[in-house]
Amino acid sequence: VKERIVQEKGFDHTLNLLEEGYPFIKSRMDLYKCNIFETHIMGKKAICISGEEACKIFYNEELFQRKGVMPKRIQKTLFGVNAIQGMDNNAHSMRKHFFMSLMTVDHQKKLGELFEKEMEASADKWVNMKEVVLFHEAKNNLCRAACYWTGVPLLESDVESRADDFCAMIDGFGGVGPRYCKGKAARNRTEAWIEAIIEDVRQGKLTVKDDSPLNQMAFHKEPDGNLMELQMAAKELINVIRPIVAISTYITFTALAMYEHPECQEELMSGDNKYFEMFVQEVRRYYPFTPFLGAEVHKDFNWNQYEFKKGVLVLLDVYGMNHDSKIWNNPDEFQPKRFEEQKNRTYSFIPQGGGDPGKGHRCPGEGITIEIMKASLNFLVNKVDFEVPEQDLRYSLSRIPTLPESGFIMKNIRRK
Ligand code: HEM
Repeated sequence: VKERIVQEKGFDHTLNLLEEGYPFIKSRMDLYKCNIFETHIMGKKAICISGEEACKIFYNEELFQRKGVMPKRIQKTLFGVNAIQGMDNNAHSMRKHFFMSLMTVDHQKKLGELFEKEMEASADKWVNMKEVVLFHEAKNNLCRAACYWTGVPLLESDVESRADDFCAMIDGFGGVGPRYCKGKAARNRTEAWIEAIIEDVRQGKLTVKDDSPLNQMAFHKEPDGNLMELQMAAKELINVIRPIVAISTYITFTALAMYEHPECQEELMSGDNKYFEMFVQEVRRYYPFTPFLGAEVHKDFNWNQYEFKKGVLVLLDVYGMNHDSKIWNNPDEFQPKRFEEQKNRTYSFIPQGGGDPGKGHRCPGEGITIEIMKASLNFLVNKVDFEVPEQDLRYSLSRIPTLPESGFIMKNIRRK
């Protein structure tokens, strides 16, 4: 017996998605009381799915593919045209193996230390300033640390504009009109900049450490034995630096969580690494960042009596799963302690994708993200004292990606 998938009435729901943002999929699932429904996005049929079991099929590479799924407008801003996010099978797995090799535990630690050093140097300046916006400081320091870590030379006078370009690419994701144009221009500038640097490394005009991501990317060979095309190498190096700068969003949410939850203060002050880890995990669960993920059905299959036909677009509801009461008790409460229990969450906690990062498309940068978020939390708890002045800390769920309106302003900063 086949089950009919609930179909959302109406011709196309792209406008609803743009208007409603993060809760678009979950609010419909709550309404229809199901974990699957069909809608139309950008003139195309799309099946939306949610939950641990749905996530397991979504990451089954025999059933789904990524090639051609991402709209060109997203490739031209966020990811880079034809880069790793849209690859499949052997080609993807070789490229992914290479990415994973850049993110060893030692490399992660090094990047964390570089970032901490930058934050401490900034804090020495903050004490003489009336107030600072944490998001701005974090994105600049992440850009400095990421460039230094990868081996990309960056003049101090260029930090702000380069960091802003990385942010504009991310911000271009859910944007139409001016936001899209800004993201596209930022990508074009950044690709030209990084291409020139890789070219210099290849020609021996710029020497960097052997094991630096820049050097590795410059001399990485494709499966056919040739060097990666210059344009592709630049896009993939940007796929390392840009998401590091994006951690500034999570850092801002981490500060907001500290502020909104004074009940966590005592445990944060006791400085237990385990509690820090639980706290940042809860930040990644509670606050919105990735809205959903898309893949295309590679061959016909049935799941729970529902029919999936080759070529259909499927969207996995990342935001909804982070707030799903079948996965979390009281999902709308911020409770770091929920992560005390060690559990296999490979397919149920997926703020940066699910499954095995070495095999599928799950983010290879989760280790780095958690390391840097913990370093930031430690910095905010143990390295500085500050006041939080009156400001608009609200974040809109209808904007993708989102951020507290004020970017988290701090004043009267003192070193501890
Ligand atoms: C993929 C989120 C940080 C590099 C992804 C995916 C998500 C994600 C949702 C897609 C998963 C999928 O398609 O199944 C995030 C978030 C981050 C973050 C929210 C925090 C700000 C990082 C960092 C790096 C990184 C720090 C690198 C240093 C990548 C790459 C991919 C990816 C290269 C493509 C992987 C593939 O297609 O196989 N990320 N990420 N990300 N991320 Fe991250």
